[in-house]
Amino acid sequence: MKKLLLASSLVALGFLVASGLSENVFVSWKGYQKEYARLLAERAEDPARKREALATAVELRQFVVPDLHVIDRCVTCHLGLDDPRMAGAPNPYAAHPGNILKIHPPEKFGCTICHRGQGAAVSFREAKAVDVYWDYPLLPPNLVESSCGICHDPMALAERGAPALARGARLFEEKGCHGCHRLGGLGGSLGAELDSVGLKTKHQLVMANLPGERTTYRWLDRHFKDPQGIVPGSLMKPDYPTEEEARALTIYMLSLQAGRELPDRAVARDRHRLLSLEHDQGERDGRTLYDRLCRVCHGEGTFGTYDKFLGRFVPAIRNPAFLRMADREFLRASIMRGRPGTQMAGFDGGMTDADLAKLLEYLAGSERIPERRPDSYEKLPVGDAKRGGSIFARQCAGCHDPGEKGQVAPTLSSRSFQEKASDAMILRTIAEGRPGTAMVAFVGPEGTGFTGGELADLLAYLRTLSSRRR
Ligand code: HEC
Ligand code: HEC
Ligand code: HEC
Ligand code: HEC
Ligand code: HEC
Ligand code: HEC
Repeated sequence: MKKLLLASSLVALGFLVASGLSENVFVSWKGYQKEYARLLAERAEDPARKREALATAVELRQFVVPDLHVIDRCVTCHLGLDDPRMAGAPNPYAAHPGNILKIHPPEKFGCTICHRGQGAAVSFREAKAVDVYWDYPLLPPNLVESSCGICHDPMALAERGAPALARGARLFEEKGCHGCHRLGGLGGSLGAELDSVGLKTKHQLVMANLPGERTTYRWLDRHFKDPQGIVPGSLMKPDYPTEEEARALTIYMLSLQAGRELPDRAVARDRHRLLSLEHDQGERDGRTLYDRLCRVCHGEGTFGTYDKFLGRFVPAIRNPAFLRMADREFLRASIMRGRPGTQMAGFDGGMTDADLAKLLEYLAGSERIPERRPDSYEKLPVGDAKRGGSIFARQCAGCHDPGEKGQVAPTLSSRSFQEKASDAMILRTIAEGRPGTAMVAFVGPEGTGFTGGELADLLAYLRTLSSRRR
């Protein structure tokens, strides 16, 4: 027993000594510092410099920037950052690429503000922080541009160090992402608001379907290429971006950190200017608004189409026949409150009144759309909802399916439609149809088709749908 006790004590002591050594003596950063001194001596021009290089103290180094909450020890290993002689050396000895550190001295900015990662760590695995408990792991070098957008207007850097960030910001507008996402106060509400999406951690995203390393930047990239593969049943339309577009969009998303507090001195002038312009409201005309907000789903707006992805019919909102019957009050309600129960989510809060006015002007084109059309149609008898229901079942339900899956025609029960579509608008739509769409005219030129009585019955029936309204 004594021998056994002695042996196990020795083993335990051995472990203690070993862990003491590995924590203090055989640490990787000391090795890097010695190797750096050797590399520096190799490159020294004269013996005095060589001695100086070899005598470099082996010690922890760090940048502390209190107003950015930064304590970065990256330079403990990355010693050659500001030394041009180290250009071309391997990491961690290499000189920093470009002149970015001259413009943003590490004493004032640190490293993690641009690179992310765990600043206080002194081993590379912990600094990289992908598989340790740390919210923002080191970004791969080809995504570092995202951080420029924290302090700069992305567009201002298109030719000054962050081309992919600027491209991402442009793609966001061009691809109509605003149609479903609010950003900078503009956009729809089918998807989440994105102002602070760059601050999300991996725990805030559904990682279950992401194969491989679980980081937010990999999630974003894969989600752009295959939204439904990452979030089953997602309503986000797949856009099939190229590799390069997906990277630019990922960079732009990571740059969106509105919730982040920064001291004034760290925010660049171009961004101060951007914020004071309140997201360039002045520059948006009606057409631009339509392209950014509506085109993803409504296309040109001149044809109603079945959208394979939404699994729903999307009406032709720039069809002159529609615009001759609708009025501003109806359009405004359809746009701002949306059509509950369908993918037409409301834009309330995602558009200013001025934007809405410009958008309505654009939709109207050459039509003059009054605020409210007179609610008059030729005199009709009082309708009977029951009779109307059976006409509807025979003549309309094939397209306006009662379950309102809306595969062929729009919903007729939604609250904004029922409250804001006048009787006259509904009657004229049935009688005259919407030329150019599947909605045919049900009253012919010589009084063929529905009689006034039948129209009144249909109207009475349609109004009962409002009790089903959402
Ligand atoms: C313990 C030493 C050490 C520390 C501390 C350290 N690094 Fe490194 N770093 C390395 C080494 C070694 C490499 C090369 C790794 C490789 O090629 O696999 C490297 C590579 C990199 C790269 C190249 C890209 C990559 O992912 O391989 C970047 C960027 C980087 N480090 C940034 C940082 C930042 C920012 C910090 C501070 C948060 C930091 N490093 C802290 C040792 C360190
Ligand atoms: C103002 C932003 C910014 C700051 C601050 C900054 N970097 Fe960088 N860093 C960049 C950019 C941009 C690149 C280039 C990425 C590219 O084009 O591959 C880069 C590249 C690097 C690389 C080379 C990666 C590779 O491709 O091998 C290393 C290593 C690195 N930085 C370390 C640091 C360290 C350590 C600090 C802190 C002393 C620091 N950086 C501070 C923006 C910054
Ligand atoms: C923490 C905030 C911060 C980050 C992150 C940052 N910058 Fe800056 N940058 C500044 C500030 C502050 C200035 C000083 C000049 C000013 O106020 O416009 C500046 C200046 C510049 C300038 C010189 C502009 C001029 O008008 O002289 C360039 C170019 C630049 N940054 C590019 C970048 C790029 C590229 C990145 C990303 C790799 C980046 N910056 C990341 C804050 C930042
Ligand atoms: C047809 C509507 C629609 C369009 C267009 C659309 N999205 Fe989405 N998006 C959604 C929905 C719904 C979700 C939530 C479900 C999911 O995560 O897939 C979402 C999720 C996201 C998320 C994850 C947000 C989070 O916090 O989980 C990001 C980032 C995103 N979208 C960015 C974009 C970008 C960038 C574009 C333009 C290329 C775009 N979306 C176009 C509907 C849309
Ligand atoms: C062949 C399919 C089809 C049939 C049958 C049909 N509709 Fe339609 N209906 C449509 C389509 C498609 C639209 C949307 C047209 C557009 O893009 O503006 C529409 C639009 C409407 C609208 C306007 C809805 C809105 O949101 O502005 C009303 C009201 C309407 N139909 C009532 C009826 C009634 C009542 C009947 C039966 C008498 C009927 N429809 C029969 C396809 C049909
Ligand atoms: C995410 C896709 C999507 C986006 C983005 C979208 N819509 Fe819609 N919109 C729809 C769908 C689907 C319907 C049909 C709803 C129904 O079945 O009731 C619709 C219906 C409408 C209607 C009612 C048309 C009618 O015939 O009564 C109007 C008006 C309209 N949208 C305007 C707009 C405008 C303006 C924008 C841009 C600001 C916009 N929509 C953006 C999907 C969208």
